[in-house]
Amino acid sequence: MIKAVRGTRDLLPPETGLWNFVESAVRDVFRAYNFQEIRTPIFESTELFARGVGEETDVVSKEMFTWSDGERFDEEALATEWIARGVEEKRFSVESATPLNSYLNPLRIRFINRIPDSPEFVCFRPKATLEAVELLLKARSDVKSPEFLLRYPQDADYFRRFEISLRIVVPSGTADSASWIDTRGVEVEQFQNRTPVFKSSQSLTLRPENTAGVVRAYIEHNLEKRGLNKLYYIGPQFRRERPQKGRYRQFYQIGAEVIGPPSSGSESPARDAEVLEMLATLLDRLGIQGWKLELNSVGTPGDRVQFNQALRAALEPMVGQMCDDCQRRAVTNPLRVFDCKVPADQPIIETLPRITQFLGEDSRKHFEAVQDILKRVGVEFQMNDRLVRGLDYYTRTAFEFTHGALGAQNAILGGGRYDGLSEALGGPAAPGIGFAIGEDRLVMSLRATAEDVLRKPDVFVAPMAGMNGEAARLARELRRQQVAVELGDDTFRLKKSFEAATKAGAKYILIVGENEVKADAFAVKNLATGDQVSVPRGELAARIRG
Ligand code: HAM
Repeated sequence: MIKAVRGTRDLLPPETGLWNFVESAVRDVFRAYNFQEIRTPIFESTELFARGVGEETDVVSKEMFTWSDGERFDEEALATEWIARGVEEKRFSVESATPLNSYLNPLRIRFINRIPDSPEFVCFRPKATLEAVELLLKARSDVKSPEFLLRYPQDADYFRRFEISLRIVVPSGTADSASWIDTRGVEVEQFQNRTPVFKSSQSLTLRPENTAGVVRAYIEHNLEKRGLNKLYYIGPQFRRERPQKGRYRQFYQIGAEVIGPPSSGSESPARDAEVLEMLATLLDRLGIQGWKLELNSVGTPGDRVQFNQALRAALEPMVGQMCDDCQRRAVTNPLRVFDCKVPADQPIIETLPRITQFLGEDSRKHFEAVQDILKRVGVEFQMNDRLVRGLDYYTRTAFEFTHGALGAQNAILGGGRYDGLSEALGGPAAPGIGFAIGEDRLVMSLRATAEDVLRKPDVFVAPMAGMNGEAARLARELRRQQVAVELGDDTFRLKKSFEAATKAGAKYILIVGENEVKADAFAVKNLATGDQVSVPRGELAARIRG
């Protein structure tokens, strides 16, 4: 049996009802805060994540699903150059419009007339292959066959008079594959091509997160002309992490980004506070209790120059006792030492200096302003000066919402500012702040069950024998009036229809029999109370919707 790949999973009903419930609540909340949806591709060029998220991060260095989309041989480019050179040097001519070409073209064989008269069939390949040898030999025997004579009398006559030579042209610099295949008299020519005949390969990656993609789209489509952009997305992300509860290789994020030119107010602490307040509202609205907001400022790259020096100095005497990753990070990107999960390293990390001690005046004021607004609107938070987030683009405000019920993977969501990301990707200055909620974890922390949020059918329409058509007509009328209908089958006996209606959780059952259709009024029975009434067709929808 073929199973879903480790770290991926199927989301099935009724649980998908919870996902729909979450997604429609978040769309409502995003609307109230004037966010609009953006959808970016689920794969991007690898370079985007290397430059955006950072080479030293765990996400980029260990967890990406990356592949090369493959070097492609451009047969047409090789053929065009080879033919042009032969014609230019007057070694041969090409006749493009002979009837023979309608036979040769589909086989990707070119007919060359060498000077003086000597016909040749040529194939172009990235390397000599048996397939090409066989193809050429078959073409030569075909054109000398009696059938060919009948179809193309003039050409056949020509080919009878001359010997046809066969050739495979390969670009220079390819391995000498002709030495190990039996070329059976077919000449293999290594052509000194001057134009490239391989379209270069591209390294692609399944997105491990969506911020880099959104900022790429912002730059690519000049979204700065829209002023402040408030964008949200819902979709799958991919990280090759060790799967465990709450951690998957394909997981879903609900995220948002507020980004725009500095003149749009994108740098204001009011934006940070608005995003955090929106998140608190969203979690409350979903009925999630006991969440904790942890807040820190990771400063600007300027603030971090001194911090990195202090960190390196503090690490120097101890780094030898730390894990390999930390030893490397101490040199390349000391801030990332705070991402270390190795238990033995934690006491050392506890003694390290914290970024908060190195914040410049501007960063400090910005951070205080964020906190002031949060207090003012009544959103509780806790300071956590170890919180540096696992991605390199963060500047100033950084935050996480955690939930006790989630176990080891307790972060429901994380985010922060990334004021320099657009410039790092070659774009204009575009300060931004955003977050991503792990939707899998959000659903796990809901108190509501699928049963609570599932929308059951309002009515089960039960056709009596021969009444499938009438029942379908009635169901269509009701559905067009926003009644949720489950439709039975006229082979069901009445008892089976009742069972099916109960199983589907319908509120009413409606019987469609000949008498009902004639009277244009239908028996509607409330499955919970057993009450039954006859309702005229025109009043059915209103009665069922209650
Ligand atoms: P992140 O902290 O890497 O941030 O991921 C955000 C959330 O995605 C996490 O808090 C967690 O709930 C969820 N998550 C991450 N990895 C997994 C996994 N393997 N399985 C299940 N859930 C997972 C970002 O991705 C940033 N792009 C957030 C952001 C947006 N920052 C600014 N704007």
